[in-house]
Amino acid sequence: MGDLTTNRSSVTGTAPVLVASNRGPVSFSTADDGTLILRRGGGGLVSGLSAIDDPNAVWVCAALNDSDRRAAAEAPDGRLDLAGHDVGGQAVRMLDIDPQTFARAYNGVANSTLWFVHHLLYATPTAPSFDAGFRTEWAAYRAYNEAFAGALAREAAPNAAVLVQDYHLSLAPALLREARPDLRIGHFSHTPWAPPEYYRMLPDDVARAVLTGILGADRAGFLTERWARAFAACCADLLGATVDHDALTVTFEGRTTSLGVHALGADADFLRERSHRPDVDERLAALRAAVGDRRTIVRVDRTELSKNIVRGLQAYRHLLRTRPEWHDRVVHIAFAYPSRTDLAEYRQYTAAVQDLAAAIDAEFATPGWQPLILHVDDDFPRSLAAYRLADVALVNPIRDGMNLVAKEVPVVSDHGCALVLSREAGAHAELKDAALTVNPYDVIATADALHTGLTMSREERADRTERLAAAATALPPQQWFLDQLNAL
Ligand code: F6P
Repeated sequence: MGDLTTNRSSVTGTAPVLVASNRGPVSFSTADDGTLILRRGGGGLVSGLSAIDDPNAVWVCAALNDSDRRAAAEAPDGRLDLAGHDVGGQAVRMLDIDPQTFARAYNGVANSTLWFVHHLLYATPTAPSFDAGFRTEWAAYRAYNEAFAGALAREAAPNAAVLVQDYHLSLAPALLREARPDLRIGHFSHTPWAPPEYYRMLPDDVARAVLTGILGADRAGFLTERWARAFAACCADLLGATVDHDALTVTFEGRTTSLGVHALGADADFLRERSHRPDVDERLAALRAAVGDRRTIVRVDRTELSKNIVRGLQAYRHLLRTRPEWHDRVVHIAFAYPSRTDLAEYRQYTAAVQDLAAAIDAEFATPGWQPLILHVDDDFPRSLAAYRLADVALVNPIRDGMNLVAKEVPVVSDHGCALVLSREAGAHAELKDAALTVNPYDVIATADALHTGLTMSREERADRTERLAAAATALPPQQWFLDQLNAL
């Protein structure tokens, strides 16, 4: 395993800017002949970091699977760039964390506990139950955070800026400050933050450790003001910290952390170029052939409990049951690509989505009309093709940090699309004026909103799409990243 100790030390590195995240910019798989195959990832952080033109910047991430672990172990000190891998411009240090420690931290604490708390996902009569097994996972989460803090402390130049990402790494800021008080440390939450009465479900020491871990940063960033204020409310409620509601700061034990709000936007240049390449055109032609001249309702998500795919399908079924005029006139395109399949809840959720889709098909399909096209595999160009084709986009999460799909579809749409958007998505704060807002739990209201979107005039759709795209691209990833860096 990497460095597990973060004791204060005078040893410093050379990186002036560092990013730390669980998932790095690349991942590996192994070919049949045993060679490593590298895959470059996408997303806001990858685009954001491209704004930095400094070869000494370092991205510290975890090895997520056995192929990653092999790549990390074979590279000098885990430095993939030094091993000759094309990792995208900056240096990448991949931490070869022991698989059991990683699994307990990532699956047990980050994804099964903190993710569930922040997205309000528990069925509370039976879960959570913080038993001895959880305590083992919590110790692993601490060790995982220590490994990151140790690596960052070693790589960072004096007074360097370190941007720590997300709920996987909530303890790392305080651990890093302890080891390297000279550093400027930022933390950014890509998730929502739970309200205090829900957050308090965590064991008291765990709840406090997560908050004080993040307060180890000089600045804690969030995607919306709503999540920043929820974090501040938890600090006041659980720690007795002092919150300045105007300045948006939290003071605890003599240190003040400022809270920042940075609403990550869609990468318009990338999306517009990528969505008109031949592989997308090809898939668009195939989708058009399947849909014919019918209207389309499109959704694209990870198969993720918080995305509310099942209620989305229930809403579509309600639409077809109550408004037969749509029979043979609409097709729902639902792409739900795999996510966190190590967790039983996610596998069961995928099965629930598939079962309901099959039931809708059995109830309504005719020899000439397939009412629903569901794919549960990942195909990025096919997702972009669906974005281009959408008459209505359905984005109805139970709760979501931001939801970039809501921002991407209007940018890519060929003829304008109506956006049915959950009021619990972070993106709603910026898009609500031009979207059709829904309560994600209200299936009937969601069906009504789908109907409104489908019947909206071409002019109104075009006008709304233009406004949605403008709001969606207001803060491109590069600017989002630089703003955080400059604010440190
Ligand atoms: O929202 C948190 C987040 O880490 C996102 O940045 C990302 O899209 C998603 O979760 C992916 O999660 P995982 O790395 O577990 O696939």
